[in-house]
Amino acid sequence: MGLIEELCNAYGPAGREHRVRKMIEKELKGHCAEMETDRLGNLIAHKPAVSKGAEKIMLCAHMDEIGLIVTHIDMKGFIRFTGLGGIFTERILGHRVIFENGTIGIIGMEPDKDSAKPSPKPRMEKMYIDVGTRDLESTKKIVEIGDIASFHQIAIRLGKKRISAKALDDRIGCYCLIEAARRVKKPKCDVYFVFTVQEEVGLRGARTGAYSIDPTYAIAVDVTDTGDTPEAHKMQVAIGGGVAVKVKDSGFIANPVVKEKLVEYAEALSLPYQMEILEHGSTDAAVIQLVRAGVMSGVLSIPTRYIHTTSEVCDLGDVEAAVKLLVRVCEKGLS
Ligand code: CO
Ligand code: ZN
Repeated sequence: MGLIEELCNAYGPAGREHRVRKMIEKELKGHCAEMETDRLGNLIAHKPAVSKGAEKIMLCAHMDEIGLIVTHIDMKGFIRFTGLGGIFTERILGHRVIFENGTIGIIGMEPDKDSAKPSPKPRMEKMYIDVGTRDLESTKKIVEIGDIASFHQIAIRLGKKRISAKALDDRIGCYCLIEAARRVKKPKCDVYFVFTVQEEVGLRGARTGAYSIDPTYAIAVDVTDTGDTPEAHKMQVAIGGGVAVKVKDSGFIANPVVKEKLVEYAEALSLPYQMEILEHGSTDAAVIQLVRAGVMSGVLSIPTRYIHTTSEVCDLGDVEAAVKLLVRVCEKGLS
């Protein structure tokens, strides 16, 4: 199993990222001068510039994934839940979930008795998790109120160059940062690789990470939507079309200097790239840009289909382009 698969398969819903953090720490050992975990749980790995007085750049990707949190257990042992992050209820019925202690459950739903035709968007309060127990007492032995489940889905190769997994959002970003940290030999910038927590519930880790580092520049690496599936919302980004350089999303406008440098480097290296405007959604860069007196920020996105489902899909060629571009940024700087 490759590192991408391993990262995606790991359990790490928002607030419970410790297993992912451990894996990343292990992968970065020997490749960074210092590594530390801050009070919120962000992993910060520092790779100093070859010469003194270099500008600080923060590269970041979030470790957390969406999940479900237990709110109630009924007399028959069925578990009610609410979402941790953006859950699409119409996409989770029948899927498997796994709790931190390894307990596996199936998402079921009460039959829709209210109307003749089933509603297109099932309501979460009609859903439950079935963990194979027969009553409250037996469920309580393995699952408690407040426990968090992640989706349970093993990563696979889809065709020759694609990968499908849960949590590609944003373990694929974590992978890009790990690869870049390993490949960068002589950084011109003081590079901070930051693996953030709690992005899915409000871009929280990125805020404290950026505050403590106080970088001049930042680049977030995350997934973005595509417009290349049947009847998809009009969007130019396509899977396999190269790394996406973000122009704008609903919380962010890319700093022009950073954006133009990214394009310039992609051109110079003949890397496939595409410009991205995402109409709904945002990334860690939305908060990083606003920290202290402001941080000149950009985003590199991996075009991904079926985001926030148990079978997200991305293209390995796009991932490789992102890694190469990050390496170039570290070695040449952004100014
Ligand atoms: Co997400
Ligand atoms: Zn994300």
